[in-house]
Parts: sequence; structure tokens; C-alpha cells
Amino acid sequence: MEVVIADEDTLALLAADTIERLLRTEAAPVLGLATGSSPLRIYDELTRRHAEAALSFTHAQAFMLDEYVGIADDHPQRYRNVIDTAIATRVDFPDGAVHGPDGSADDLAAAAADYERMIAEAGGIDLQILGIGTDGHIAFNEPGSSLASRTRVKTLTRQTRADNARFFDDDIDRVPNHCLTQGLGTIMEARHLVLIAVGGNKAEAVHQMVEGPISAMWPATVLQLHPHVTVLVDDQAASRLQLGDYYRHAYENKPEWQNF
Ligand code: GLP
Repeated sequence: MEVVIADEDTLALLAADTIERLLRTEAAPVLGLATGSSPLRIYDELTRRHAEAALSFTHAQAFMLDEYVGIADDHPQRYRNVIDTAIATRVDFPDGAVHGPDGSADDLAAAAADYERMIAEAGGIDLQILGIGTDGHIAFNEPGSSLASRTRVKTLTRQTRADNARFFDDDIDRVPNHCLTQGLGTIMEARHLVLIAVGGNKAEAVHQMVEGPISAMWPATVLQLHPHVTVLVDDQAASRLQLGDYYRHAYENKPEWQNF
């Protein structure tokens, strides 16, 4: 697990560099896209590079992490619409190349199984962007999630619904109770995980994820078992890291030959 502590703009540039390298070197790259506010600067930077530096997504596919259940198709907070607005329609993905779990399916279990199959048929995810919830969730894998879980329906915690109420007119009752989310086992199969966290409200979750014992109580701790994770955090999100000075030192002295 590599921990990089920098300002928000630098973090977005680093993530965009990694994604650009993938898009320019892989014949059929598969990206994993996250919602939430943390990745928005990355998407802005990718859009800029698409417009100004001929960065193309025409040979790429993308898979979203999660989707609310029971939200209107045209609701701006439906994650499919959020991703369309944030990145999918701003770059040149081919029609049908950006996939999300179908949270409005009549048969949610079948939709979850279909989604797992689609990811597998695409050859798996090369690079998965992740955020983290204040309770340590990734995607919508709330505390208590099986570390081996697959795409399925989850019930959101009150904490997550309170955190996300800002997107629903500050009214927690408008935040859906359920979602379809990739499981922790699904996420762990992506070949490179790039997690971005900014702000002091993420500091405890970041500390637990990087330095705490592996536990379903802090679902993001499962990432300690993945061979290629990049954790991008600003000073506030890094403020509870016990080994913060060490991570800074390691990054400042990173050898040229060590790929990001
Ligand atoms: C939601 C999403 C997560 C995201 C989290 C944090 O719960 N399902 O994928 O990581 O929010 O969002 P933010 O980056 O806005 O803090």
C-alpha cells in the first residue's frame, strides 16, 4: 500500500497521470469509476486532457461501483446520472461502454449477478478509483460487510445517509435506504486500486484503513490484503496516520524505477 500525502490538486494530477498511462498503453482498458465528491477533480483533469491533449476513451470501458435502489431514473443523484455528468458524457466513451449496477431492476439479485458477469466478460477492472466513507465503507460496503462479498443489495447506515443528505436537500429522509454495490471481494479483484480521501472527516477512516487491524467493522481495511493500492490523501485526511512522516519520506525519496 503506497500512501501519498499532498494537496488536492496534486492528488488529482497523480491519479490522472496513472489513468492516462493506462489509457495510452492498454488496447482495451477497463476503468472503475467512483461517485462522491472526492474523485471530481480527477474527472475534471481527465476531461481537460481529453480536450487539450487528445486523451481518448474510445477503446475503454468503465464500471461504476454502486447505485441507489428506489431512486427515480431522472434524479440528479442517481449514480448513473452523477457519473454521466461528472465524466462519462464529457469524454469520448463509445455508446454503452459505461456500465452501472441496475438499481431499478425488478429482480435485484439477478441484476447483481449480471453485473458480476459483465465485469468478468470485460476481463476484470484494470484500475479502480475509490473514495471512502466516514464509517470506512468503500463503494457502499458498510461496516459488517463480508470481506469476501460480491455485488448485492446493501442497507445504508444512518451515518452514510446523514453524510449524503447534502445531496438530497439536507433531508436524510430523502436519501434511499438501499443500494446495489460491488462487494469487497469484487473490488479486490481490480488490478490497481486508487483511493482518494480529502478532509478531516475522513482522518479516522484513513487511519483505520492503512494502519488498523483488518476487520469488517472498517471495511476499507480489506485493502491491506491487495498487492497494488495507492492511497491519495491530503494533510487533513492524513492527520491521524501514525506513520505519516514515514509515508512522506518514502514518497519524497521514491526511486525513479518504482512505478506509481
Ligand atoms: C458514497 C459512495 C462512495 C464514496 C463515499 C464518499 O457513499 N458510495 O463510493 O466513496 O460516498 O463520498 P465523498 O467523496 O463525497 O466523501
